[in-house]
Amino acid sequence: MHEYDFIIVGSGAGGLSAALHAAKHGKVCILTKRMAAESNSSWAQGGIACVQSDQDSIEQHVSDTLIAGAGLCKEAAVRTIVTDGPQRIEEVINWGVHFDQKEARDGHLEFDLTREGGHTQRRVLHARDATGKELTEKLIAAVRADPNIKMLENHFAIDLITTAKLDLVSEDRVLGLYVLNEISGEVETFRSDRVILATGGCGRVYLYTTNPRIATGDGVAMAWRAGAAVADMEFIQFHPTCLYHPQKRSFLITEAMRGEGARLTDKEGTDFMQKYDARGTLAPRDVVARAIDSEIKRTGAPCVYLDISHKPAEFIIEHFPNIHEACLGVGIDITKEPIPVVPAAHYQCGGVLTDLNGGTSIRGLCAVGEVGSTGLHGANRLASNSLLECLVISDRAVKHMIHKMPVGKPAEQGYTIPAWKSGNAVNVDELVVIYHNWDEIRRLMWDYVSIVRTSKRLQRAAARLRNLKREVQEFYWNFKVTSELLELRNLVETASLIVECAIRRHESRGLHYTLDYPELDESRPPASTVVRRY
Ligand code: FUM
Repeated sequence: MHEYDFIIVGSGAGGLSAALHAAKHGKVCILTKRMAAESNSSWAQGGIACVQSDQDSIEQHVSDTLIAGAGLCKEAAVRTIVTDGPQRIEEVINWGVHFDQKEARDGHLEFDLTREGGHTQRRVLHARDATGKELTEKLIAAVRADPNIKMLENHFAIDLITTAKLDLVSEDRVLGLYVLNEISGEVETFRSDRVILATGGCGRVYLYTTNPRIATGDGVAMAWRAGAAVADMEFIQFHPTCLYHPQKRSFLITEAMRGEGARLTDKEGTDFMQKYDARGTLAPRDVVARAIDSEIKRTGAPCVYLDISHKPAEFIIEHFPNIHEACLGVGIDITKEPIPVVPAAHYQCGGVLTDLNGGTSIRGLCAVGEVGSTGLHGANRLASNSLLECLVISDRAVKHMIHKMPVGKPAEQGYTIPAWKSGNAVNVDELVVIYHNWDEIRRLMWDYVSIVRTSKRLQRAAARLRNLKREVQEFYWNFKVTSELLELRNLVETASLIVECAIRRHESRGLHYTLDYPELDESRPPASTVVRRY
C-alpha cells in the first residue's frame, strides 16, 4: 500500500497548483492516467480572466460572470474567486509563467489583455494562443523540482475508498483510492486522508468536442459512485468555434479571435450574429452556439465561418501563431480566407458539488477545477474564468484541509482496507465491443442531449444509457480492468448524470435549452439541480 499526506488525481492547472501548495505541508502524490502534459488545461488557448487594469474592477468582473451565469451563479463563489485572482496570478508568475505584455503609452510594459465573449473589459491574460500550454509546462517543471511531490504517470484512479464503502460507522470520509498501474497492469491501493480530484471535464461524452482524449468524466463518475453530491450537470458549454475539418476534429479556434475583431458569417460572407443578439459575435457562448446551430439548421450548410482575414497578416500571425499554423496544415490560410467552424462540447459547468474551499460532501475529499461545482459558472461559464477557478480553489482547498486536518495524525483508525480483488476476471477478449459502446454513447449524446434538447430526446437518451450501463457493468465485473474499460464505465456514468439533471430542469436557462420549456421558469427562485446516489 502506498501512503501519502495528500493524493491529487489529475495533472492539469488545478492538480498541479494544488500539489505545489500541498507540498509545503507534507508528502504529495499526483496520479495521472496518461503523461503529465495531457490535460484539458494544457489545451486551453484563450487565457485567464483576471482584473489587471485601472479601467477594470472586481465589481465589473463579478457582474459579467453573474450575467453569463443566467441567475444560477453563487455570488459568494464568484466574488471570492474574482477577488483572490490577482494574488494567484502573481503566484504563477513567480512559478515561471509568462503572459504576453506590450508597451504602454508611457513606455512601461503592461499585460497585453484580450477580450472574450461576455466580458465588458479587456481582462484576459494570455500567452499567445497557447496559454494552457505555457501554464501547465511551467507548473509541471515546478512540480518536478519539488522533492515533496511524486508524479505517477500512467496511473488510472479507479475508485475512491471511503468509510461508507467499508461499512464503518462514522461520518463518511475518504481513505484513499484503488489505482490501475498501467505499467505493471496491477491494481494498487493508495492511502490518504486528503484526496483532491482535479480530473477535468467530460467533453468526450460527446461526438464533437474541443477536449483532449483524456476528458472522460472520471472524477465526477468516481465521486458519484462514492456517494458525493453532484450538481448542475445539464449545463454543458458548447464552444461556438471548433474547426470544421475531418483531419482536425477537436481543434479549438479561440474566442480571443472574436475579441480581436473576427466576424462570424455564413458562406455568402454575411455577418449573422446581430440578428440574434445586440452584442453580436461577443455575446456569451450559449447565445452564439445556439445562433450557429440555428443558422446551420436553417441553411442546411455543414458549418459557418469565422473571418479575421481583414486584419493585417502580421497581427494575425503574432496573436494566433498556433491556430495559423494548424489551419495552414489543413490547407486554410487564415490571413486570407475564413475558417470553417462548428460548435462542439467544450466545458462541464456543473460537477461534484463543493463549497468555496473545494470541499465535497465526503470529508477529506476536495474537487478542484472543471470536475467541481463551486457555483462560479452557474448556468453558463464566462470565458476564461475556469483557469482562474483552478488556481484560486486549489489554494483554498489545501489551506482548508490543513486547517481541518493537520498533517501528522490519521483521522480514522481501527480499519483495514481490503486489497483489490480481481476474482475470476479474465482479459477483455473483444475490444471492439468497448469501442462500439463508446461510439454509441458519444453519438447519442450529440444527437439527443446537445445544444437544443427536447423532453422526448432526453427520455430516449436515458433509456439507451440504462441499457449501456448494464452492459458496461457486466464487462466491469467479468473482465480485468483496462483503461479503455474504466473510461467507458466513467463515460456512461457521466452521460447518465447529464441526462438525469437535464430531465429534472423544466425550463430553458443558460446552456440548457429545451424546446418543451423554452422560457425561464420564473415561478420559483433559480436553483441548482443536485443529485445524490444515496
Ligand atoms: O476560446 C477560448 O480560447 C476558450 C476559452 C475558455 O474556454 O475559457
